[in-house]
Amino acid sequence: MLTFAGLDIGGTKCAITLGRATDHDIDIIAKTSFPTASTPHETLQQLLHELDNLLEQHPDDKTRLQTIGISCGGPLDSTRGLILSPPNLPNWDHIDVITPFQQYFGVPVGLQNDANACALAEWQWGAGRGTRNMIFLTFGTGMGAGLILDGRLYAGTNDNAGEVGHMRLAEDGPVGYNKAGSFEGFCSGGGIARLAQSLVSRRLEHGEQLPSFGSLDTITTKAVAEAAQNGDPDAVQIFREVGRQLGRGLALLIDILNPQKVVIGSIYARQQELLQPCMLEELRKEALPGSLSVCEIVPAGLGEQVGDYAALSVARALYLKG
Ligand code: BGC
Ligand code: NA
Repeated sequence: MLTFAGLDIGGTKCAITLGRATDHDIDIIAKTSFPTASTPHETLQQLLHELDNLLEQHPDDKTRLQTIGISCGGPLDSTRGLILSPPNLPNWDHIDVITPFQQYFGVPVGLQNDANACALAEWQWGAGRGTRNMIFLTFGTGMGAGLILDGRLYAGTNDNAGEVGHMRLAEDGPVGYNKAGSFEGFCSGGGIARLAQSLVSRRLEHGEQLPSFGSLDTITTKAVAEAAQNGDPDAVQIFREVGRQLGRGLALLIDILNPQKVVIGSIYARQQELLQPCMLEELRKEALPGSLSVCEIVPAGLGEQVGDYAALSVARALYLKG
């Protein structure tokens, strides 16, 4: 029995997971999470402190701890262990996340892009099992892709493969990844909220009736999704647009990579019913039929836990590499 630790550094929250692994499986035995602090330094201190606490509570695992895996949004440099300048961690700039943990815990520490890590986790333990070519799309706070190609993770020349949130899908649209009309601009939590905000602003300007999902400063993706589920036509319209853009982004990926499976996490996994019809309609219009027909598009098999397994899979991959 081996123990691994996974750290997930996100734009809104951080999570720490301890997992016990046998050859093919891993069991999560402890988890804790907290909101991401305002500075990288504070966030790293808190991660270190909380991981130390978890290990104190599990002394056997502390002695069996093999490696620590860190999963974080990019752009990043996995070789040097640096978080470069992620759009969703605005004040992180060339931050070394490996050294503090390596020094304190005395085990190897690895860093991987969060979408890549999720792809590894879904491939090993989730909806991607048994495939050779699969794409994982995060669709949460940010939009990123992890690419498993020909039976291995493809990270690109300098870890930027799968930075699909940066691709422009339309000339105009909500800003995401510092670009209006980008994949992340439409297909992310912030994107949905911004589409809803601009609709409310337009209504206010014209003195028209406001939608049911709240006033300008309280709009959340969750509120818009709930309104859509209750049939609010404005909210339904927003999800249709987002679904359409999801289909458009996916069509490009399917045309380039000809995957066997696309696994989508977070917002898609929760709101599949709202997003799927327009996504499929757009895919049928845009993607090469012969590629679309062999590609299955499914929500994350690990559900809300994919991020925890993702960080653990970074630790496990580092251990296997020896
Ligand atoms: C980042 C990606 C990341 C994605 C999901 C994007 O903003 O650039 O690297 O995978 O968000 O967190
Ligand atoms: Na990626």
